[in-house]
Amino acid sequence: MESILIIHGPNLNLLGTREQSVYGDTDLHEINRVAAEYGSSIGYNVETFQSNSEGDIIETIHSAPGTYAGVVINPGAYTHTSYAIRDAIAAVNIPFVEVHLSNIYSREEFRHASVTAPVCTGQISGFGPDSYVLGIEALRRILLVK
Ligand code: DQA
Repeated sequence: MESILIIHGPNLNLLGTREQSVYGDTDLHEINRVAAEYGSSIGYNVETFQSNSEGDIIETIHSAPGTYAGVVINPGAYTHTSYAIRDAIAAVNIPFVEVHLSNIYSREEFRHASVTAPVCTGQISGFGPDSYVLGIEALRRILLVK
């Protein structure tokens, strides 16, 4: 069975209590559980990684090829600032799907720009925890036509 990696960026470990009016009350453990369940229903092993550190996220991206067929990534606020994460995604030759719980285009101006989305196959934004399930489904479709 092929594996997919979900990378959760900074502050996403606080889901469930963090800004509930924006992100809801589902915690990261539950998001990961549902993602793994959906993955196995479509024939993929889903593993997850969360870090608040840009360097750890970059190291994880570097080591993903060979182990994972593709990556679903929510870079958190690094979405808007991290050219280093963008370059790491561009440097590896497996597909990435960017996901966001909130609709970043309906929020503050600084969230409207993603520096990471242009080096991903595409972006899913605004569907709450379902964004991850949709991200896995998008990756499945990308991998089918590869
Ligand atoms: C987020 C949106 C980002 O702007 C924010 O910094 C996050 C979460 C989302 O999933 O909606 O940490 O990536």
